[in-house]
Amino acid sequence: MSRVHRGHVFHIAGSPTVDGAADALVSIPDGALVVDDDGVVVYVGDFDRVPPDSGIVVDHRPGFLLPGFIDTHVHFPQTFVGDAYGGGQLLEWLNACIFPSESMLADPQFAADAAVAFCDRRIAAGTTQAMVFGSAFPHAQDSLFEETRRRGLRVVSGRGVQTTGPDSAQALITSEEDAVRLVSEEIEKWHAADTGDVATAKLHVAVVPRFSLSVTTETLRNLGDLYDSVRGRGVYFHSHLNENDRPGTGEVATTKETYQVDSYLDTYDGRFLPGSKVGGKSFLGKRSILAHSVHCQDVELARMAETGTSISHCPTSQQFLGSGTMPWKRTVASGVNIAIGSDYGGGDEFLLTRVLGDAFKVHISEAGDDGVSIHPAELLFTGTLAGARALDMEDRIGNFDHGKEADFIVVDPAAWPPLGGLIDRGVRSEEPDMARDQTLFALLMAMREPAITEVYVQGRRIDAV
Ligand code: GUN
Ligand code: ZN
Repeated sequence: MSRVHRGHVFHIAGSPTVDGAADALVSIPDGALVVDDDGVVVYVGDFDRVPPDSGIVVDHRPGFLLPGFIDTHVHFPQTFVGDAYGGGQLLEWLNACIFPSESMLADPQFAADAAVAFCDRRIAAGTTQAMVFGSAFPHAQDSLFEETRRRGLRVVSGRGVQTTGPDSAQALITSEEDAVRLVSEEIEKWHAADTGDVATAKLHVAVVPRFSLSVTTETLRNLGDLYDSVRGRGVYFHSHLNENDRPGTGEVATTKETYQVDSYLDTYDGRFLPGSKVGGKSFLGKRSILAHSVHCQDVELARMAETGTSISHCPTSQQFLGSGTMPWKRTVASGVNIAIGSDYGGGDEFLLTRVLGDAFKVHISEAGDDGVSIHPAELLFTGTLAGARALDMEDRIGNFDHGKEADFIVVDPAAWPPLGGLIDRGVRSEEPDMARDQTLFALLMAMREPAITEVYVQGRRIDAV
């Protein structure tokens, strides 16, 4: 039996870029989302215009209905290591906190517990789809995929590949042969395993070298060959790019020095052999997401735009690890699609509206003319439709357009009093569009997990336990 979900609907309709998000913002105060038996959106609009016999009415008022959030960069094996003190920036923190913590997933029970906790946190935060940076251990990835399927969530994930690194990462490092074999086995086991069809699956696999410094040129070449052979099956690529540029000892400088390349992106673009500008197959494309991309050269942004590669912007993590601020205006102007990422545990927030709030704060604070007050519709776009685009799933999810799969959350302001106060009593302009924007902004900025009272994937309610 189809359902008529009644509440205040907000979404970004159609297929705009971030520049067009404000014009594409839809707000329907007494709205309805009609979802058929297959979990597909068949109507979105005013409640009093719902076609007759559309189904059972589920009244969520005074709740808001928003598309489910899409986290384009979050670390499963860091579920229990958020807010870890590492005594330094990225490379020190990896060494002191992250490699040892991720090694603990060698214990299958620990890994299974992490998968349960990770899915719990996703549901609490309304993250219906995510590009999940995986564990090095195949049994841990099995736990992640199994638990995700059991809970009815969506996921794209792949084991984090490491073939070189410091002593603290030894448990995560494999031989060159095993690196390729294990990724290949993961693809065969889990890619579209739920439906057997990439176009309808909720489980997908990515090829995920941790970052260029954690692998060798041989690994990049072998994984590039593997990726080239499975790209046509809709397999994804995911890694980190241009995160920390501390002079001399930071990630960017060390990568360029190690690979003798002019740009960090070259290492993912099949151009990683010293001096020669060649090396292997490129990982870039419409199913490739590079996290951070804070310190990109123009040539790197142009290449990402040209290939359809997306950026996962992770401002919460960038503050936590002192990685700097991705230049918003310049990156938008490059034409690269920018989606949001929590980067949990580099970031210490799972809830993507908190991460979007950090985006608002860091970009309004950029120096001089670079500072920008991001429109609330652009924030909503970045947390929903841009994520669907980054995953090449815009035809399925990301908004409430007719025919999409109904992934949505219910936000009840009464369930979180600070939000309720802002919604009911906060300042509103006399001008209707501005008043609408103020409501959306209050919703995004003041929302916390308790306000997310229901989460739906493909029209099916996901239970918290
Ligand atoms: N670069 C390589 N590994 C990591 C990681 O785990 N977190 C972040 N933020 N950056 C990385
Ligand atoms: Zn990360």
